[in-house]
Amino acid sequence: MSESYTLYNQTVMDHFLNPRNLGDLPEADGVGEVGAAACGDIMKISLRIEEGRIKDARFKTFGCGSAIASSSMATELIKGRTIEEAMHFSNQEVVQALGGLPPVKIHCSVLAEEALKAALEDYLKKHPELARKTPLQSAPAGA
Ligand code: FES
Repeated sequence: MSESYTLYNQTVMDHFLNPRNLGDLPEADGVGEVGAAACGDIMKISLRIEEGRIKDARFKTFGCGSAIASSSMATELIKGRTIEEAMHFSNQEVVQALGGLPPVKIHCSVLAEEALKAALEDYLKKHPELARKTPLQSAPAGA
């Protein structure tokens, strides 16, 4: 392991070592996969959406501890939200819920926001009638 885990607080360590919602959703309604060019890490988020609301979310992350903790927390936070609410989801929410990330690890949380939005885009592509009503926000990613 090349990371210095002393960088992480207890909440981050907990989500890294005991990730919630790990895996795939069979027959997911929306799937988003993104990569971070800088480090090569990859994150995939799968969503089950029923009646306009996120019923379930899973993730697979090939990346650092911060990326795993961020995707674990993001999938916890977005369950139960409407599509519209999820479109406004920001990496800052993940950082706050994790009790903070080291500055050099903020981009890992951005990956979670991007993967979620890619999954929502995938869902809306399959449901163009909804996409017209709720156009996907192109919120600025980043800290
Ligand atoms: S170091 Fe790239 S996602 Fe964490």
